[in-house]
Amino acid sequence: MDRREFVGLSAATLAAGFSLSSSEAHGAHEDFGLQPVADGVIDSPPVLQNPAPDAMTVSIAVRAISTAWVEYGTSSTLGQRADNSRHGLLPLDGRIHKIRLTGLKRGTRYWYRVGVCPIDFRGAYKITRGAAEFSEKYQFTTPGRASTASFRVINDTHENETTLKGVTERLAACKPGPTFWNGDVFNDVRHDNQVVSQLFRPGGSDYAASNPFCLVSGNHDVRGIHARQLDRFMDHPGGVRFFTLRDGPIAYLVMDTGEDKPDGHRVYAGLNDFARYRDAQRVWLERAIEEEEFRDAAVRVALMHIPLWGPGSSEDSRVKWAPLLARAGIHALICGHTHHHAITPLNADHPYVQVVGGGPAPESATVIEGHADSTGLALLVHDLAGKELANLTIPV
Ligand SMILES: [Fe+2]
Repeated sequence: MDRREFVGLSAATLAAGFSLSSSEAHGAHEDFGLQPVADGVIDSPPVLQNPAPDAMTVSIAVRAISTAWVEYGTSSTLGQRADNSRHGLLPLDGRIHKIRLTGLKRGTRYWYRVGVCPIDFRGAYKITRGAAEFSEKYQFTTPGRASTASFRVINDTHENETTLKGVTERLAACKPGPTFWNGDVFNDVRHDNQVVSQLFRPGGSDYAASNPFCLVSGNHDVRGIHARQLDRFMDHPGGVRFFTLRDGPIAYLVMDTGEDKPDGHRVYAGLNDFARYRDAQRVWLERAIEEEEFRDAAVRVALMHIPLWGPGSSEDSRVKWAPLLARAGIHALICGHTHHHAITPLNADHPYVQVVGGGPAPESATVIEGHADSTGLALLVHDLAGKELANLTIPV
């Protein structure tokens, strides 16, 4: 069977046994400017998600029904294998595989590669495996107790291809650390192919194959007929989009500010419930900031898409969360949304600096880098040409 026939069968199998995307179901056809990275079943480089001291999720996009696994180890010879079976079944999907590596050691470097095997699934007893394909071999380091740590923040890329190329090129030159994509990856979420194009190979890059990426959900990432399907491609701590993460001297706090207009606004047609969602996050936040891993960090960084202060800020988020952020001893709040890079110094209302990243146009886009040790946090903001827009030192 040649590959075209195989893919055709996969499409038929998808229609029979897997749910079609909503836009497909409605007959919508859009060209997402897809540029497959190579021929074959693998459709993206690996994307690391949901980093933990003892675990890491390896995700990869595929373009036909296939199974997948990860080979990994503490040396380039690998030696271990994660299969991620569930209820006794190994993975089988036509678009995305997510494999959780568990039992990892804290602060340890791992090598890995993903194996994908196309499956010709014609019936319960009529299944044929194709030839296995492998990703390149990459390395990552689990969060640990190192004395220093770094991170990177991008935001509001809004599907701008030139900007995606620019920010991913700059990320490749940054120190290792998690990348927080601080909202508005999308204009609105419409199709699986669009999700793969934006999150799994933005600008044709392997931006998250060695450094995990964390989605900080923006108001445009919860819009569109396919927005509810985004979780198929994502993995977050506890399966939710608000969480803490500790790496060395830094405790990160990620919150989900949701939409930018009240739930009752006519454009949402009664389909939004973000006010109660922010209430639930407040209840969670009260406990999260008391966790020892969070409290005993030298540096505490909060990330959320919509600012809490100044133009374009979220009043509902501010009312519900700001007192807790102050109590938590946050040192820096990093946001997006306004499409204009800005810095709001600390004051009596917010005893932390608020840094807002730039916008989707290449000339206004930014990459924010953070470097921390036990004495403080340095925040650098660059544009895509490498010009330094801000350089803050925040002692702790
Ligand atoms: Fe935006």
